[in-house]
Amino acid sequence: MLRYFTAGESHGEALVGFLSGLPAGLKVDQAFVDRELWRRQQGFGRGGRMKIETDKAHFLSGVRHGATIGSPIAVLLENKDWKNWQESLPVEEGDSAKHKRVASPRPGHADLAGALKYNFPEARYVLERASARESAARVAIGALAKLFLRDLGVDVFSHVVAVGGAVLKKDVSWEQIRGLSERDEVVLNCADPETEQQMREEVDKVLRTGDSVGGVFEVVAHKVPPGLGTYAQWDERLDGLLASAVMSLQAVKAVEIGAGVTAASSPGSAVHDEIGYAAATGFTRSRNNAGGIEGGVSNGEDIVVRGYLKPISTLRRPLQSVDFASREPVKAAYERSDVCVVPAAGVAAEAMVALTLARCALEKFGGDSMAETSRNFQGYLEQVKNY
Ligand SMILES: Cc1cc2nc3c(=O)[nH]c(=O)nc-3n(C[C@H](O)[C@H](O)[C@H](O)COP(=O)(O)O)c2cc1C
Repeated sequence: MLRYFTAGESHGEALVGFLSGLPAGLKVDQAFVDRELWRRQQGFGRGGRMKIETDKAHFLSGVRHGATIGSPIAVLLENKDWKNWQESLPVEEGDSAKHKRVASPRPGHADLAGALKYNFPEARYVLERASARESAARVAIGALAKLFLRDLGVDVFSHVVAVGGAVLKKDVSWEQIRGLSERDEVVLNCADPETEQQMREEVDKVLRTGDSVGGVFEVVAHKVPPGLGTYAQWDERLDGLLASAVMSLQAVKAVEIGAGVTAASSPGSAVHDEIGYAAATGFTRSRNNAGGIEGGVSNGEDIVVRGYLKPISTLRRPLQSVDFASREPVKAAYERSDVCVVPAAGVAAEAMVALTLARCALEKFGGDSMAETSRNFQGYLEQVKNY
């Protein structure tokens, strides 16, 4: 079974991602992993932190001679900002006068709930782990899941469909979405230049006013075979697994599969994807409102998952809060911050979708080596073809 988790604080020495259960013999393209990390750092509206960090994956274990060896993989991402924080976040006891306290909890962050839960007098340690800097570690291990899926012919990419009030109203092809990932300059990762300009204006507006903005990204997984996930148990349904994985990302407040939101207010005839058959292509669909999943099982169409992001919680013009120590009303703490992260969140969601699909694929096809997994996978494809 594919298992993964992360460790690390936002301004600590490093982030670490752990991934266990990948078969041996998967080629690890280091440049691809670093490129994925770079993509997570891009987008108009990012703050100063992304200028400090240039994330590079440093594999500590599980990869030898350029390929996985079936052992658990640990990948480390150095925090360059650590040098500015060593005195205020030491591992050993340290000088309490040097702590950089988060004295008033920021609405929309874990600050208050975390301080109450862990019994901290202020929110520094809460911020350090609740921060979306953590998502870089997910992107590093997600890149390995993407490489695994790529060996099975599956690709996962994202694009941005809304930033604030600027909404993409045109259909976008798979080729356009994949093409976005090849750009060396990322503005808002939208395939339509006119809408991207409107999105840019939304970000400009909040930059001027000291506010922040959210939006919607869409992740598409292409060439997923039918049969991943199952309706047999509630916790094995692919839609549920994807929703949980994407919702677990910082600031994602709603997840939609296919046309899920509009489907709720449309008649069945306008929603469900009619089925056809042709000898050359096998079963076909008239459209893909189901987003590639029916009954918790992939149906062979592209898997389409949207994530809805709330606006960034840290505001340059802070909202009202309360001082932890005095309980007096004060403005919420401010610390250098992004104002828009929709493209970056889309890249992090690609990682979560890839990890989820890779886990389901390994559950279905098994294999301790890529040769074994590929053989099982090809056998299954043959069965589907000859159905
Ligand atoms: C890639 C990414 C970068 C983020 N950067 C920031 C940031 O710089 N400042 C901030 O206040 N929130 C940022 N956020 C959002 C916060 O992490 C999020 O609002 C916070 O964790 C609370 O949201 P939650 O309740 O969903 O966890 C970012 C989110 C993502 C996905």
